[in-house]
Amino acid sequence: MEYVTLNNGVKMPQLGYGVYQTPPEDTEKCVLTAIQNGYRSIDTAQAYGNEEGVGEAISKCGVPREELFITTKIWITNAGYEKAKASIEESLKKLKTDYIDLLLIHQPFGDYYGSYRAMEEAYEEGKVRAIGVSNFYPDRFIDIAHFAKIKPAVNQVETHVFQQQKEAKKYLEKNHTQIMSWGPFAEGRNDYFNNPVLKEIGEKHEKSVAQVALRFLLQSNVVVIPKSVHENRMKENFDVYDFELTKDEMKKIEELDTGKSLFFSHYDPETVEWFMSIL
Ligand SMILES: NC(=O)c1ccc[n+]([C@@H]2O[C@H](COP(=O)([O-])OP(=O)(O)OC[C@H]3O[C@@H](n4cnc5c(N)ncnc54)[C@H](OP(=O)(O)O)[C@@H]3O)[C@@H](O)[C@H]2O)c1
Repeated sequence: MEYVTLNNGVKMPQLGYGVYQTPPEDTEKCVLTAIQNGYRSIDTAQAYGNEEGVGEAISKCGVPREELFITTKIWITNAGYEKAKASIEESLKKLKTDYIDLLLIHQPFGDYYGSYRAMEEAYEEGKVRAIGVSNFYPDRFIDIAHFAKIKPAVNQVETHVFQQQKEAKKYLEKNHTQIMSWGPFAEGRNDYFNNPVLKEIGEKHEKSVAQVALRFLLQSNVVVIPKSVHENRMKENFDVYDFELTKDEMKKIEELDTGKSLFFSHYDPETVEWFMSIL
C-alpha cells in the first residue's frame, strides 16, 4: 500500500474503495470483502445512503480503526453551519466511529461556507482528521482555499484518462491540496474498458485496461477510489503495484485527455438546475 501525505501531515492510502451506487443492503458485505482483500480506505457520502453499511463493515472487519481511512461527504441538503454540524454527528453515528478521517463538502452549492466552518470546528475538536471539498472547479476552489481558515486537504473531482484535470491540478498544487479522483473508470463511459491505447499497453505488462488506467493515475500522483461490487474486480483493481508504466506509455495515455467531463459541467446552468431539482 502506498500513501500520500496531506497538507496537515495526515497519511492517506493512495488507493481506496468507493461505494457510490452500491445498494445500501449490499454495502456491508462489499466493504468487508474489500477490506479482506487489502483495501484500507473507504469513500462514502451522506447522499449515497450507505454510511450505515460502511459503519457495520468497519466495526466488524477486525482491522484496527487506526489502520482504516474513512471518507464521507456533506450533502447539499445539509449545507450551512447548523445543519452541517448536526449532519457530522449523524455521519459519525452511522459510521459507528469516533472520528472521520476525511470529510468533504460534496458539491459547491448552498451555504457551503457555513458547512466549512462546521467542518473546521469538527476538525479542531478531533472529530475529523482532515477536511476538504469535492467538485470544486478551479474558480470555486481558489475562492475557498483563499478565504477558509484551514486550507482544503483534498479536492475530489472527476479524474480519469479522458479528463485528466491538467488545469485544475495547477491550482491544487499551488495550494498543497491533494487531487482525489472520482470515476477513475468514468463508470465505463466512452467504451473505457475497450480503449485500444490502454489495451495495447496492458498487453505488454500482462495487465487489464482497468489496471493500466489506475496505474496511470497513481503515477500521476492522484488518489483513486475505484468502485466494484465484484470481488474479482476488487482484487484486480488492487493488484497494481507490481508494474510500472514507462515515460513513453505515460505520454501516450496523457494524449487521451480531452480536458472535458464525461458526465456534466458545473459551469453549465442546466447542470446546476438539475442539482437543484433533485433536492
Ligand atoms: N464526489 C463525487 O461527486 C463523486 C461522484 C462519483 C463517484 N464518487 C466516488 O468515486 C468512486 C468511484 O467512482 P464511480 O463509482 O462513480 O465509478 P468508477 O469507479 O469509475 O466505475 C465503476 C464502474 O466500473 C465497473 N468496474 C469496476 N472495476 C472494474 C474492472 N476491473 N473491470 C471492469 N469494470 C469494472 C463497476 O462495475 P461493478 O461494480 O459491477 O463491478 C462500475 O460499473 C465512487 O464509488 C464514489 O466513492 C464521488
